[in-house]
Amino acid sequence: MNATRKAADAIARSLDGRTPDLAIILGSGLGGLAHKIEDSLLISFRDIPGFPEVTVAGHEGAVIVGTLGGREVIALSGRFHMYEGHPASLAAFPVQVFHALGVRQLFVSNAAGAISPKLAVGDLMIISDHLNLMGANPLIGPAQEGVVRFPDMTDAYDPGLRKVLRSAAEKLSTRVREGVYAGLLGPSYETPSEVKMLRLLGADAVGMSTVPEVIMARALGIKVAGMSCITNAAAGVTGAALSHAEVLETTQQVTQAFESLVTEFAQRSRSQSPAR
Ligand code: HPA
Repeated sequence: MNATRKAADAIARSLDGRTPDLAIILGSGLGGLAHKIEDSLLISFRDIPGFPEVTVAGHEGAVIVGTLGGREVIALSGRFHMYEGHPASLAAFPVQVFHALGVRQLFVSNAAGAISPKLAVGDLMIISDHLNLMGANPLIGPAQEGVVRFPDMTDAYDPGLRKVLRSAAEKLSTRVREGVYAGLLGPSYETPSEVKMLRLLGADAVGMSTVPEVIMARALGIKVAGMSCITNAAAGVTGAALSHAEVLETTQQVTQAFESLVTEFAQRSRSQSPAR
């Protein structure tokens, strides 16, 4: 049995007949959303074959299944980052496992630094596109059955789901921005010169995740919506030093707006989910 099937079976044994078709990946400091999931069951990474232990403060290592916005969802709290030493394929592994469980839509979130002057600390940014600057790709290696070898990345962040996010934000009177996310390997933050370079390349925000998961989702035909929580000005923008503590502090300030928005999105995106 392959690794994906093994992990999916381990989760399926706890599902009790539930059939989540929306997966939610929670970024640094955004794990609080897991507590908003109703009638939930929690599966520790320790109980899922192939899932490593989480090493980053502010991340909990668990898969949470339950109801959000009246919809069955499966959430990942404590994703696998490449800067922990994981290959891109492992960073994207949970997406493969969720797909094997029937997931056809993915909402991915992250904490990110603001490069664009249009972004302020505390903003929520709908991801319109990304720059893969991680020096890796989760699809590298032998072709896998059911995984497209050369997936199209036009509209990687689904225009229909972006529209749903915008209308959800409008309903909640939550200010949202939209922009391009640059994914870097980390774990050091960027230098001011690197941030200048990223601005020239067309990036609005920068972070250290998301790209592997989104590539894998597209290779599996999963529709993606992405959101960055702008936790800080990127290096050199204000001259202030960056810290993980600041990142976590900002996520705490926006957590309520973020959680309401994802809940509204879960409800509204249901009609766009492909039939299983
Ligand atoms: N750079 C990279 N990753 C980040 C940042 C940043 O400024 N903020 C939060 N994650």
